[in-house]
This record gives sequence, C-alpha cells and structure tokens, in this order.
Amino acid sequence: MSDRDTLLKILDLARWAPSGDNTQPWRFEIVGDNHIAIHGHDTREWCVYDFEGRPSFMAHGALLETLRIAATAYKLHASWSHRAGTPDTAPIYDVHLENDSNLKPDPLISSIETRTVQRRRMQTTPLTSNQREILRAAPGPGYNVEVTESFADRRKIAGLLWNNAHIRLTCPEAYQVHKQVIEWGARFSEDRIPSQAVGVDPMTERLMHWVMQSWERLNFFNQYLFGTIAPRIQLDYLPAIFCAGHLFIRVEKTPQTLIDFVAAGCAMQRVWLTCTAQGLYLQPEMTPIIFNWYASTETVVSRLKSVNQEVKKLATLFNSLTSDSKPLGHPVFLCRVGNSTEPNSRSKRLALKDLMQPINS
Ligand SMILES: Cc1cc2nc3c(=O)[nH]c(=O)nc-3n(C[C@H](O)[C@H](O)[C@H](O)COP(=O)(O)O)c2cc1C
Repeated sequence: MSDRDTLLKILDLARWAPSGDNTQPWRFEIVGDNHIAIHGHDTREWCVYDFEGRPSFMAHGALLETLRIAATAYKLHASWSHRAGTPDTAPIYDVHLENDSNLKPDPLISSIETRTVQRRRMQTTPLTSNQREILRAAPGPGYNVEVTESFADRRKIAGLLWNNAHIRLTCPEAYQVHKQVIEWGARFSEDRIPSQAVGVDPMTERLMHWVMQSWERLNFFNQYLFGTIAPRIQLDYLPAIFCAGHLFIRVEKTPQTLIDFVAAGCAMQRVWLTCTAQGLYLQPEMTPIIFNWYASTETVVSRLKSVNQEVKKLATLFNSLTSDSKPLGHPVFLCRVGNSTEPNSRSKRLALKDLMQPINS
C-alpha cells in the first residue's frame, strides 16, 4: 500500500518531465492508494508544431516514464495503461503502483529535476566511447540511437536546421505560437519558455521582442531587413556545429498510434535523463521531424503557399540526409548533445496543486 503523501511526492518529481514549449499537457488525479490517473491533452488546436498531437503524446510518455522512475524511490513499481474509450485529444492513462520490496531506486532519479534543455553553443569535445555505448542502450528494445558526430555531419544538420528555421520564422501560424510560448524578459517561467533560455544574445532578444509585437512588423523585418539571418545563425546554425553531435532516436516499427508515440516519448526521456546522468546537455531539434510528418501525409502547414513549398523541400532534404540509416528504423526524435556549463535560465513547472485535476471535472 502507498499513501496519498507518497503519491504526491512521486507526482511532484514527475511533473519535471519535458513537454514541447513547456505546455505540460497533463493534469493529475489520485484515484486511490495505488492508482493515479493522468489526464492528458494536446495542443494541436493552437500549436502548428503539435502535428496530430504527436509531440504532446511524446510528452505524455516522458511524464509516464519519469513517474515510473520516481516511484522506484519508494519501492513502488508503476505500470500504465491507456484507458479504453478516451479520445486521443484527451487520453487518460491509468497508473497502478505495486509494492516491490526488491525494487532498487533507479539511478536516473537524481537527474529528473536537473535535466534541462540547453539551447546555446556547447563544447565540441566528442563523446567518449563509453558515453556512446550508454546512450545507444538507453532507449531500450525496439529503438536505435544513431549518433552523428563528424564535422561534415554536423554541417549537414546545420544546413537542414538553417532551412528549417526559415520556415519557423516566416510562417504566420508558427509566429502565433512563438508569441504565446515565450515569456519575455524572464529568466525562469512556470508555464512557458523564458526568453533568456531561447538562446540569443540580450540585444537580439530585445529586438525579437520588439519585432514580434505584430505579424506585419515581423514580416516587414524578414522581407526587407534580412530579419531571419541573426536568429538563424544564433539559434540554429551555430548550435548545430557547436556540440558533440546529433542523435536520432529511431523506432523499428513505424509509429502510427497514440500508444506508439507515447512509447517513443518514454524512450526519449530515458535517453535525455541518461545524457544528464552522463554530465551531458541536450537540445531537441524536433521541427524538421514535425515538418516531415506534415509533408509525408500531404498536410498543409500554412495559409502561405511559399511556406508549404519550403516544407516539401525540407522533407526532401531530410529524407536524403537520413535515408542511409533507414534500416535502423523511423526517426521519431532528433537532438544535439554535448558538454557545456549549466544554462542559467530555464523553464520551471506549474505548482503541483495547479496540476491536480479538480474533483468531478
Ligand atoms: C516532444 C518535445 C519536443 C521538443 N522540441 C523542442 C525543439 O524542437 N526545440 C527546443 O529547443 N526544445 C524542444 N523541446 C524542449 C521543451 O521546450 C522543454 O523541454 C520545455 O520547455 C521544458 O524545459 P526544460 O526541458 O528545460 O525543463 C521539446 C520537448 C519535447 C518533450
């Protein structure tokens, strides 16, 4: 038996799981002494990046995996199932906890709260062969981690991200999202990304804030004043070069269902926490994968034709860069990793009390 206090402590740690743009698409309900319900949602209604809710499902997976790891501190074995009949837009996951006196605390527990995204330049020190091996084993069966580290490979990914960033910065639907998810002038943010963690220097940060006041202003700046150049260099090109390398997490069975993406999120979080435990930092580079999902299902990203054409071209480039590794499976996550000092700005989380599902809601 576990008591409510123990479950609250587990949830208090689990809420540090990452989610796209720090949206925290979950609320918690303690149903009984051994039963927690996670009420998920996604952000596809307003967030162009949340393609069919997949990034949110991956975040749900990250949360469920973090909860499982946190529960081992109390000798509790947590297992989850998707509640039948709940819709993909509001899935409920039932987590059951069982006492297991032989269970050892998971060594990743201490990395749960310290894990954080690092969007600035990292050192180019290569991974050690031991780190490479540990990262390859981290996601578990059914997944492969492909590590690309050479300068030539980092340049190729930098080129991909350069084109990708042009889409992000000139797409009106993405502008609406950026406006909503950045907390300007902040070092920490409970429910968004603080602007100091975005990865630009203070002057560019102030300029971006001013320019992003309206789409018309941003569009003018982009078209006539080369406005995409400075952020693309700082946010995409240089970070892609200045890191140890890029990792693809590939899944052997093509992911299609909500459960496939939740499971991919569990694998992603194991890799991310393993990086932290190894003293490495990580930044997801999910948007090329997301735009590739749009292109491969012929789904329109934007009301602007030019943006949709760029998305198609990006998908062609993405596929040409990744086709040699097809036997390793379908890419579900791309990120860069490396050694670095601790970022001095990061996203925090909503308080646990604000994440508890009101009873009867
Ligand atoms: C599925 C998923 C996709 C993400 N994609 C990106 C991304 O493309 N670029 C990026 O900088 N951060 C990305 N993030 C990181 C989140 O923005 C970050 O985890 C969140 O803001 C919380 O911050 P923290 O990880 O520092 O706690 C992603 C996270 C998840 C779970």
